[in-house]
Amino acid sequence: MCGIFAYAGKDNCAQIIIDGLRSLEYRGYDSWGIALKSEDSITLRKNVGKVSEIGELESVEASMGIGHTRWATHGNVTIENSHPHYDSEKRVYVVHNGIIENVEELTEYVQGDVFYSQTDTEIIPKLIARFLQEVAFPDAVKKVVRLLKGNFAFVAIAADSDYLIAARNGSPIVAARQAGQFYISSDLQSLTHYSKKAYFINDGELLIYNHRTDVIDFYDFYNERYISKDLQEFDLGATDCEIGSYKHFMLKEIFEQPEKLKATLDANIERGAIRFGNVIDFSQFQEIQRIVIIACGTSWHAGLVAEYWLESLVRIPVEVEYASEFRYRNPVIDRNTLVIAISQSGETADTIAGIKEAKNDGAMVFSICNVPGSTIVRISDSVIFTQAGPEIGVASTKAFTTQLEVLFLLALSIAYQRQQLDKIEIKRYLKRLAEIPEKMRRVLANKEQIISIMQAHYTVSNALFLGRGVNYPIALEGALKLKEISYIHAEGYPAAEMKHGPIALIDRNMPTVFICIKDHSYDKVLSNIQEVKARDGIVIAVATEDDQRIGKLADHVVFIPETINELSPFLTVVPLQLLAYHIADRRGCDIDKPRNLAKSVTVE
Ligand code: AGP
Repeated sequence: MCGIFAYAGKDNCAQIIIDGLRSLEYRGYDSWGIALKSEDSITLRKNVGKVSEIGELESVEASMGIGHTRWATHGNVTIENSHPHYDSEKRVYVVHNGIIENVEELTEYVQGDVFYSQTDTEIIPKLIARFLQEVAFPDAVKKVVRLLKGNFAFVAIAADSDYLIAARNGSPIVAARQAGQFYISSDLQSLTHYSKKAYFINDGELLIYNHRTDVIDFYDFYNERYISKDLQEFDLGATDCEIGSYKHFMLKEIFEQPEKLKATLDANIERGAIRFGNVIDFSQFQEIQRIVIIACGTSWHAGLVAEYWLESLVRIPVEVEYASEFRYRNPVIDRNTLVIAISQSGETADTIAGIKEAKNDGAMVFSICNVPGSTIVRISDSVIFTQAGPEIGVASTKAFTTQLEVLFLLALSIAYQRQQLDKIEIKRYLKRLAEIPEKMRRVLANKEQIISIMQAHYTVSNALFLGRGVNYPIALEGALKLKEISYIHAEGYPAAEMKHGPIALIDRNMPTVFICIKDHSYDKVLSNIQEVKARDGIVIAVATEDDQRIGKLADHVVFIPETINELSPFLTVVPLQLLAYHIADRRGCDIDKPRNLAKSVTVE
């Protein structure tokens, strides 16, 4: 989604901002822009398409500047709508993430101004410019932020001012300084090249940096007072941001999964027992009568897998909700409900809104997140981090499997606290979990077989993914991966649901991917496979290593090593990730930055 990068300092300003925007590219965008301030003039360059097409701008002399990657919400993908936006006198320039909800009422303040874009952003520089007629730049911004409604983060500069000013209310913004150089970004990851310490700006705060004096102030615009703020250390694992010898980040991230699972397990195990650190008050688990999981997309699929684990191991009712629906459904939540929010980025607007709703209703909110310092981390009561490292590919892979691992550990912990499992049973589960990374490596070694399936079917237009029990959410995830990156229409269903509708789609052109492992519903899934074959359908099966029967029915089989049923999703998902990846690659798709998608979905 939209990204902000700003810089003030003595180095090549244009180049640093362009590099900053490139590091935000993975978030997804359709246009970009940059405004560079030199002495008392501002040079503006905007375009649709990629930052790499920037041309001669890199030679502009400037001491500070702001840059933006735009993912269209208000208005089409056009140069006019791309940021930075400016006032009628071209004095104030603003880059903005989020949505301003009360633009219409604010236009009263800027009567006579002509708007050149369809964006909600343009009102901000226009308002600042109006107030600049009465007060200095920082005071003008203070007046404006109090008028804005909605979620936003923005950075503003003015042609005749030394200030770089950032505001946050709901959308992330962080800053770093290093030897007289100052950086502001909407994404902590983009600062890793410059510093290991950052200022985390909270909702309702302004950052006011005077480039001439190198003084930084923080201002709480809810309470109208200056506040102090310290730099905080962060470590996002710089090597995760390098592509190495891989063709795409997604492929690298698929292959990183065994090591990230091991890291996540190591981080939460101490002397053979589960230890989440002192963030969680385990005694509260005794009182819980119900668990509600909220998440979006792939994280929601992780929640669906956890529903099976929590219900069978803890014997507690669990509901898994799309965060976007949960928020507006007036959910029945109370102090005895544990709400678990799952998010890779920690910045998903729907999930953030769901957490706020749950907290208002008195629930304890416990989050699983991959990004330290993110909004979800800061607003939750407790957090367990997945140790996936930065995930650059838009299609989530290693974040998903590490989320699963944390959720499984959590299910074991709660089961132990509530005397559903004893120490010996927990140890047995942990032993099987510790075997997963090595088994996953064996699945990853099967690449050639996946490629031959890809070659046979990469031209299809539709695909069906079916699984049962704990592998039904994996069918959903397989379908999501394929549609996200290859643009093939794909649907996931519980295998038994096929006969209630989707079977009408089966023909010789539509492959059905069955997850058909040796569990309690194995025979029933085999029957479903037969039903597809009877209609000339193509069957691709993910099956357990020693399965002798499946080869006689399916057109293609990918075998996975044996594990206990509960843990099979860790292994069944890998062939589906690889299949989606190789099909998308063969179709020439932009795998790490699929069309229309964003890594962090920061609008509701
Ligand atoms: C996953 O491949 C998707 N890109 C998307 O569905 C994602 O999982 C969803 O937007 C939720 O993101 P989050 O985990 O960062 O909250």
